Amino acid sequence: MLPPFEAAMTRPYRLLFVCLGNICRSPSAEGIMNHLIQQRSLSGQITCDSAGTSSYHIGSSPDRRMSAAAVQQGITLSGAARQFEPADFEAFDLILAMDGDNYRNILALDRSGAYAHKVKLICQFCRHFKDREVPDPYYGGESGFKYVIDLLRDACEGLLEQVEPQVRA
Ligand code: 4NP
Repeated sequence: MLPPFEAAMTRPYRLLFVCLGNICRSPSAEGIMNHLIQQRSLSGQITCDSAGTSSYHIGSSPDRRMSAAAVQQGITLSGAARQFEPADFEAFDLILAMDGDNYRNILALDRSGAYAHKVKLICQFCRHFKDREVPDPYYGGESGFKYVIDLLRDACEGLLEQVEPQVRA
């Protein structure tokens, strides 16, 4: 279930993807979703951004190994890492965490619990993969980065299937 969205005619539906460093998984989810949005002529109706729960890599470009895996699938990664901030709860309609730690760290910033309904684990939208979380590829090899792209493509396609009827309504 997605949170209610009643402003489809006046503003875009805003998605925020969140991981730890904002240099591997969340920029990949952002790049994949932007690719799907363009393919389906939904530009302007759905917007994407990404952030990290940590401050480790603020200002950095996406990880080279992650970008290489994405390019092999026709996806270009862009942007500079930023840290998730409480203002993001208001600024976005849906906040997609890559793993359970990210999910808990995001919710810990929502002291009142007012925004918990906007925060989801992205893998809940997978249609084929059984994973509950997107594994952190940072300390692993090339295959881990490729796996992240394949998993996120499945999750983003499933997510878009749910968001699209809301923005076309
Ligand atoms: P991300 O990957 O959360 O997918 O961007 C990581 C990036 C950096 C680190 C860990 C995970 N790090 O420990 O610096």
